[in-house]
Amino acid sequence: MNSTNGLRRVAATRYVTPFREGGSLPGLVEADDLGMYVLKFRGAGQGVKALIAEIVVGELARRLDFRVPEIVLVDLDPELARAEPDQEVQELLRASGGVNLGLDYLPGSFDYNPVVRDPSVEDATRLLWLDALTLNVDRSWRNPNTLLWHRDLWLIDHGASLYFHHSWNPERFPAAKYRFDAADHLMLPFAGPLAGVDAELAARVTPELVREVLALVPDEWLAQDEVFAEPRAAYERFFAARLADRTWVDELEAARVARV
Ligand SMILES: Nc1ncnc2c1ncn2[C@@H]1O[C@H](COP(=O)(O)OP(=O)(O)OP(=O)(O)O)[C@@H](O)[C@H]1O
Ligand SMILES: [Mg+2]
Repeated sequence: MNSTNGLRRVAATRYVTPFREGGSLPGLVEADDLGMYVLKFRGAGQGVKALIAEIVVGELARRLDFRVPEIVLVDLDPELARAEPDQEVQELLRASGGVNLGLDYLPGSFDYNPVVRDPSVEDATRLLWLDALTLNVDRSWRNPNTLLWHRDLWLIDHGASLYFHHSWNPERFPAAKYRFDAADHLMLPFAGPLAGVDAELAARVTPELVREVLALVPDEWLAQDEVFAEPRAAYERFFAARLADRTWVDELEAARVARV
């Protein structure tokens, strides 16, 4: 998969089953490449903003050497709803015609539990840093959004990150210092000192890399933004500001030390 070529695009051919745990009612679908994907529907509660966050943060994570299932764009024909008996699913399919987001389905994976299997200090520290950078408040003990598959950790569900874009304000943005509460983070008890990881990863999140992942987001989703005519530039400014003033890393380190 070449990053400069964009994400692969497939068409959904069959809705298989809903995932019971998912708050946004993601579903397992089969596509015309015979692959199985976890589909995140554009018609779900959080709308396309959640899908934008999935791409920006998931693809950023991949480029920082985290494992993330392949992300694809999935064309969905709302007529698939006809074969679906469940009314809630039927409505979701009808509301989701067009381009949706799919994650390669990892069969036999299960929710990661750090108590059952210790993460390495390095893995834990890097993941804590990534989530603090991207304001991902959705990786806790209760809801790890991390899968164990073939003995490795795989990151899923970045739809709640970059939460500011749901109500961004051009007057304040991006001067506001977004807070990240690490208290419940999955990896806080396992992380080591942040300085080394911060130096490595901050240097790798260049403006070019940020632009590269933003380029993967479909224009059509971005065009729905109600505040910015050029939302990509707004996301770029967020990352530039977040990396220029890393007070949040000091706060993260303080939370870690207090926890140990
Ligand atoms: N690529 C995948 N392979 C296998 N299982 C997956 C994959 N992606 C998600 N799942 C399963 O589906 C569940 C729901 O997915 P996900 O967390 O992405 O949805 P969500 O609606 O955003 O969830 P929530 O808001 O409850 O965290 C996961 O907890 C996991 O068990
Ligand atoms: Mg989830």
